[in-house]
Amino acid sequence: MQAYYGKVVLLTGASSGIGKVTAEYLAGLGYRVYGTSRRCKNGTLVFSDDNSKGFVEMVQLDVCDSRSAEEAVKYVMEKEGQINVLINNAGFGIAGAIEETSEEEACSQFNTNFFGMHRMCRQVLPIMRKQKKGLIINIGSVAGVFSIPYQAMYSASKSAMKAYTEALRIEARDWGIRAVLVEPGDTRTGFTDNRYYTAESENTSYPRSKSSIEKMEQDERSGKNPEIIARLTARLMNRKNPPVRVTAGLEYKIMVQLKRIVPDRFVEFMLRKLYA
Ligand SMILES: NC(=O)c1ccc[n+]([C@@H]2O[C@H](COP(=O)([O-])OP(=O)(O)OC[C@H]3O[C@@H](n4cnc5c(N)ncnc54)[C@H](OP(=O)(O)O)[C@@H]3O)[C@@H](O)[C@H]2O)c1
Repeated sequence: MQAYYGKVVLLTGASSGIGKVTAEYLAGLGYRVYGTSRRCKNGTLVFSDDNSKGFVEMVQLDVCDSRSAEEAVKYVMEKEGQINVLINNAGFGIAGAIEETSEEEACSQFNTNFFGMHRMCRQVLPIMRKQKKGLIINIGSVAGVFSIPYQAMYSASKSAMKAYTEALRIEARDWGIRAVLVEPGDTRTGFTDNRYYTAESENTSYPRSKSSIEKMEQDERSGKNPEIIARLTARLMNRKNPPVRVTAGLEYKIMVQLKRIVPDRFVEFMLRKLYA
């Protein structure tokens, strides 16, 4: 098996959805995957492949806690002495109109999706610099390209991941470290059921918000199989120079390309038609 960066992978949010499927897919290819969850015991083996010798072992991690990030990385380093690939996948979505999202709720969205990624990068970058090689894959979203009404905090957190990844690529390049943003579209996972609704959205003054979020949830439930992201991730892990960002799925790729050339007002019109 080819493994350009090496075989040791640390993947956050591996208990469900995209993370779980990706962890198992990579293990099937011979990668030694340390998958994280807030609710697991360190060292629990959840998947192994006798042929490839790959496995998925769970590591307890809350990406909102710097100490927890430090402990998780220390655990992998004690077992393996190296981390070749970090996949920042842990995340969730908040729904509610901007006006009806408290500061605390907005911060909690960024704390997991954006600062969670940053906490993990802060722990892993010094290791990768010493190794003079490494790959960081950040799981963004098409919602970071197209701002979704009533999910502004989620879209903003994913858009921030894009800005971060672009700067990280330039800063880390001298040490042989590469970074790439993966942008999935609607995908069938636990994400929909795990969505958090802001407290004020219960008595919303925005009558369109309910049907808009329902539409989004329908699209997610009939969305793509997470294996698409797993396969894409595996391909990126063998690229010496991965692209800045990769959108998953042909229709989403086309939408992202079109956004670059059509006027902003047209994009806004389409989003209003779809979600408002
Ligand atoms: N599904 C979609 O349509 C879609 C589309 C675009 C992008 N994405 C992105 O894909 C990523 C994975 O989402 P998914 O769809 O697979 O959702 P999911 O099935 O709900 O899985 C989310 C994972 O994140 C973990 N997680 C959440 N908060 C965490 C925290 N504070 N610390 C550590 N782990 C945490 C969960 O682990 P525990 O609860 O066990 O800790 C779980 O393993 C997310 O970043 C999401 O934004 C999803």
